[in-house]
Amino acid sequence: MAQVKITVRRNGPFRVEAPEGTIELVDAEGNPYDLTGKTAFSLCRCGGSVNKPFCDGTHSKIGFQAAEAAVQKADETVPQEEPKPGA
Ligand code: FES
Repeated sequence: MAQVKITVRRNGPFRVEAPEGTIELVDAEGNPYDLTGKTAFSLCRCGGSVNKPFCDGTHSKIGFQAAEAAVQKADETVPQEEPKPGA
């Protein structure tokens, strides 16, 4: 079984669960975030967190819809084209 589990939360963050010390999270310059004592944390994917890259719950306040939900909703509203005779 894998040591790291990442769960894509419905219309929410990526939940990362890993034994302490088994995962490293770094910024664009390679500077590590302090994950001391953490065995789980959530990464923002809505873009609204003021504590990026971590989720701060803003996704709920702004009504974030994950891409997969948005695509599914768009597909439901697009009328299906009728096949042309002889096509
Ligand atoms: S996913 Fe939670 S604040 Fe962005």
